[in-house]
Amino acid sequence: MVAEPSVVLIVGGAAGIGKAAAEDRLKKGDKVVFTDINEAVGKQLMEQWQAQGYSATFIQQNVTSWTDTEKVAAKTIDMYGRIDILIVSAGVTSQQRLEDITYKQWCFTLDVNLTGLFYSLKAVIPEMIRNGGGNIVIVGSGSAITGSGGGIHYATSKGGAFGLMRAVADQFSDQGIHINLVAPRVIATEMLDVLYPTEEAREELRQKIPIKQLGTLEDTTNAINFLASEASRYMQAQVMLIDGGRTYLT
Ligand SMILES: NC(=O)c1ccc[n+]([C@@H]2O[C@H](COP(=O)([O-])OP(=O)(O)OC[C@H]3O[C@@H](n4cnc5c(N)ncnc54)[C@H](O)[C@@H]3O)[C@@H](O)[C@H]2O)c1
Repeated sequence: MVAEPSVVLIVGGAAGIGKAAAEDRLKKGDKVVFTDINEAVGKQLMEQWQAQGYSATFIQQNVTSWTDTEKVAAKTIDMYGRIDILIVSAGVTSQQRLEDITYKQWCFTLDVNLTGLFYSLKAVIPEMIRNGGGNIVIVGSGSAITGSGGGIHYATSKGGAFGLMRAVADQFSDQGIHINLVAPRVIATEMLDVLYPTEEAREELRQKIPIKQLGTLEDTTNAINFLASEASRYMQAQVMLIDGGRTYLT
């Protein structure tokens, strides 16, 4: 029996981890709605993927806007009648010390990384429950555990994501909401280039990782797919580190 394609909503799908997850899902035959604040890249990817015969829809969204987020959930339901999988990957980072972080920068990071996540969960979970449940994978960060790798505002926002996930699980675990979080560290994406802009800096970083390799987008996609599937049904409200051993081994 051929499995029915899943309806997958990916928030922050125009680059990095979200884009890789979108591409992988399309290749598996799923119906993918992906969003991003970057309209130009999102539209270009949609055209490219549609031309390859894939079921890809891009919707421009600023995750800090509740109106945008409600619209994304409503449009996805209009198109497909359900959302089986939600992956929230949109995020921002900047490497700054406490004394240099302005109130504006603090609010911006918290708004995108934490309020944006709250809005996505608030918009999508009721729709999932109406359809008997769904799988949610949050892209968090190991920074929430170590405090390093992106500044105090970033680690705080990612720590908030852990609590938010657990509170959501506390409320909805008995209503078919399967929710977990992947916590990548040092995955080679544009975000990593922001923090480690030179090859020298990246090599220095590589040497600090126990397995001496940076993570790849395939590593994150594999973990996301596992957490979004029935194979992980008995894992709930968990943090899965994708870190080459960096967090617990020194
Ligand atoms: N790359 C890593 O090593 C790493 C490590 C830990 C955690 N993460 C987390 O993984 C997630 C994805 O990171 P990435 O490495 O793919 O980064 P990326 O910069 O390549 O992609 C992030 C995407 O989010 C989008 N985005 C930013 N602000 C937005 C907004 N307001 N509304 C909608 N979209 C917005 C960007 O346009 C971009 O397409 C982030 O939440 C990040 O914190 C990444």
